[in-house]
Amino acid sequence: MNARTFPLEPIEKASIDELRALQLKRLQSTLRHAYSNSPAYRKKYDAAGVHPDDLRSLADLRKFPFTTKLDLRDNYPFGMFAVPREQCVRIHASSGTTGKPTVVGYTQNDIDTWAHVMARSIRAAGARPGDMVHVSYGYGLFTGGLGAHYGAERLGLTVVPFGGGQTERQVQLIHDFRPDIIMVTPSYMLAIADEFDRQGLDARASSLRLGIFGAEPWTNDMRLAIQQRMGIEAVDIYGLSEVMGPGVANECVETKDGPTIWEDHFYPEIVNPETGEPVADGELGELVFTSLTKEALPIIRYRTRDLTRLLPGTARTMRRMEKITGRSDDMMIVRGVNVFPTQIEELILRQAELAPHYQCILTREGPLDALTVAVEASQGVAHESSEARGAADRLAHDIKAYIGTSARIELRPSGGIERSMGKARRVVDQRRAPGA
Ligand code: DLL
Repeated sequence: MNARTFPLEPIEKASIDELRALQLKRLQSTLRHAYSNSPAYRKKYDAAGVHPDDLRSLADLRKFPFTTKLDLRDNYPFGMFAVPREQCVRIHASSGTTGKPTVVGYTQNDIDTWAHVMARSIRAAGARPGDMVHVSYGYGLFTGGLGAHYGAERLGLTVVPFGGGQTERQVQLIHDFRPDIIMVTPSYMLAIADEFDRQGLDARASSLRLGIFGAEPWTNDMRLAIQQRMGIEAVDIYGLSEVMGPGVANECVETKDGPTIWEDHFYPEIVNPETGEPVADGELGELVFTSLTKEALPIIRYRTRDLTRLLPGTARTMRRMEKITGRSDDMMIVRGVNVFPTQIEELILRQAELAPHYQCILTREGPLDALTVAVEASQGVAHESSEARGAADRLAHDIKAYIGTSARIELRPSGGIERSMGKARRVVDQRRAPGA
């Protein structure tokens, strides 16, 4: 092994044909496994009149019905599993905004696969032998912390399993331990950067060289802002607990052009969110995933609700996904105009007097929806100053000009937007009056 880099795995260099052949074989066995061992899948496929034998090519996958969050909820907690619960060595869950959490399980082989794709992700992100990784994703039922942890260990790196929260101590330990890599949500990275400033430390002078950011949408402008502020490379990591956790796709540092999907384990499709019809590569739609190697919870045609498009491979043969601009759940419809928080984020980042700590607040004014963007003034800028006011006016103008909707801008002082230790809450919907 070259002392400065890790070698690629053979599959990362395989031809498209080799990859498609492997996918077909794995897809057939996943369908058979789900049908034979998960009563929930068998019932679904019998009702739809499809059978694993109907899949002879990758294109046949479209004959099979989708799996949604509702299927997992209806079979709460372990009813979709395709192995006896005793064979699961780990359970994770993601807390929905309403109702019961979505529960997922892993066999020992699943944990190994996950560690493997996470190690591959961290390597693609630019890790080098000997690096130390500070993990600020939350540990626990959330897949971020343990997913990052096992992957970094698998790669042979030194892991500091900090988890979320205690921002002051995070900065102290980054300063004292001198890690090379940080893994954290982009919004929490900004909170950590603010804490560097508060402690009078120069964030750009820290030991960090690389950040692996995900679990929430963030824009390319946010990437530039973080890179500039922290003096690091900022790379995108994507995943979801239903499909595995983080490490379903990861950006390669040499191109930073959208996460490469680890297609030997996760088969992607893009469908029209309204009709469910698959669309061609390059077209925008909802991302759908099928696991190719999972045992405990095979997931077949899972509707992620994430909106993106599939792009040809660049740094690898495997396809990429465009950086996610939003989840269909986060889309706001303001007086008929579709608005994603990431669009607002891009425009906020154009104003030096504003900090990218923001929330979109929806209210009802009579019969009409109203959008208020609450945003902090940058550190050192008084939120009532004429500079801040001027930036707010420019922001309102840009939102109208580029997105096509009117928004009121509410300026808050530094620290005036709630800080999350994990995923930021970008949309606050106050339109439904309590009890209504
Ligand atoms: O957020 C897993 C994860 C942990 C990914 C750490 C990356 C880093 P869930 O809690 O199940 O799992 O949430 C999954 O988060 O469907 C997307 O909507 C969103 N998401 C995850 N990564 C990204 C990303 C984890 N890089 C949901 N860009 C997904 C945009 C992301 N959205």
